[in-house]
Amino acid sequence: MSKNWRPATQLVHGGTLRSQYGETSEAIFLTQGFVYESSEAAEARFKGETDGFIYARYGSPTNDMFEKRMCMLEGAEDARATASGMAAVSSAILCQVKAGDHIVAARALFGSCRWVVETLAPRYGVECTLVDGRDLENWEAAVRPNTKVFFLESPTNPTLEVIDIAGVARLANQIGAKVVVDNVFATPLFQKPLELGAHVVVYSATKHIDGQGRCLGGVVLSDKEWIDENLHDYFRHTGPAMSPFNAWTLLKGIETLPLRVRQQTENARLIADFLAEQPQVARVIYPGRKDHPQADIIARQMTGGSTLVAFELKGGKEAAFALQNALDIVRISNNLGDSKSLITHPATTTHKNLSDEARAELGISAGTVRFSAGIEDSQDLVEDFARALKSVTA
Ligand SMILES: Cc1ncc(COP(=O)(O)O)c(C=O)c1O
Repeated sequence: MSKNWRPATQLVHGGTLRSQYGETSEAIFLTQGFVYESSEAAEARFKGETDGFIYARYGSPTNDMFEKRMCMLEGAEDARATASGMAAVSSAILCQVKAGDHIVAARALFGSCRWVVETLAPRYGVECTLVDGRDLENWEAAVRPNTKVFFLESPTNPTLEVIDIAGVARLANQIGAKVVVDNVFATPLFQKPLELGAHVVVYSATKHIDGQGRCLGGVVLSDKEWIDENLHDYFRHTGPAMSPFNAWTLLKGIETLPLRVRQQTENARLIADFLAEQPQVARVIYPGRKDHPQADIIARQMTGGSTLVAFELKGGKEAAFALQNALDIVRISNNLGDSKSLITHPATTTHKNLSDEARAELGISAGTVRFSAGIEDSQDLVEDFARALKSVTA
């Protein structure tokens, strides 16, 4: 298959395996196992002398198509599809550390990701230091002789802070550590962490890749050597594999990813610009706007804005709840990346488990709201916000 295809083509055709029936759409291979023509064939397969599948926990045809398509898009050599985004994140981190190792992670992480490095990893003797990832000096200051992994997401959830991925990767290479990037918020279309020097990329495919609210999924992508040496055995023996049915759903989702993300980004940009003019709004954070505090890094490492907008209402929680409750098209949900526009109040939902101090460090106040743009008509969304803001005092 051509590696020179542009993303929109890769996402429709990449990795396709056709059976003897020549089906147009990818087939779902809902099978746990595979049969062999002879004992010798089984032996050869297990020895790795012949290509082919062995057991669905290791790999299977529909998952293989999804993994290959994601590899083409990401510019990765190999990948493993996982049951959820968290299965991808926890596998990518835990497969490469052992007791006595140290992780440095940006403190602005999705709650479950933060739990994996801050709470789970130390139980197994792997210490973690959380830093304000926006400043490269903080990463450098946190490094210890046993630092093995740097972990970050950029833009971050929910305040859309941006981390200089190339800068973190340079530092990691100096000390022989690996950089794992959770690229969910950027999407594989707008940011290429591997090209920026990161070693491993993870996605919650639940978000934009499905994008239609149907199933959970995740994927870990890297070079073949890293996968062979770190993830291969971990993945086989701990079993975070994606269901082939979900792999099929995600293959269908990914075909329309560029169309959806384009419309979502356009809607997010319009809503960000609209909100910035409203008297009830104290500030808008949007990676596509010139007033984003890290607009220079965004220009260097991202090729598009974002499908998400963060904003702060002057009236705190009361105003945030009033706005959310008054919206008609935009639905209240903690999910994101969906073709339906969604709105979240992080302080009382996704980030409620953090201490007040930790929330403040991340810039999440009682008035912070996160908007995930869907693919609806832009003008309908602007009108929905304009009408709902009437319930919010300035
Ligand atoms: C940045 C980020 N990483 C990881 C995840 C986990 O993904 P999943 O819900 O598919 O396990 C999420 C959302 O849930 C997320 O927003």
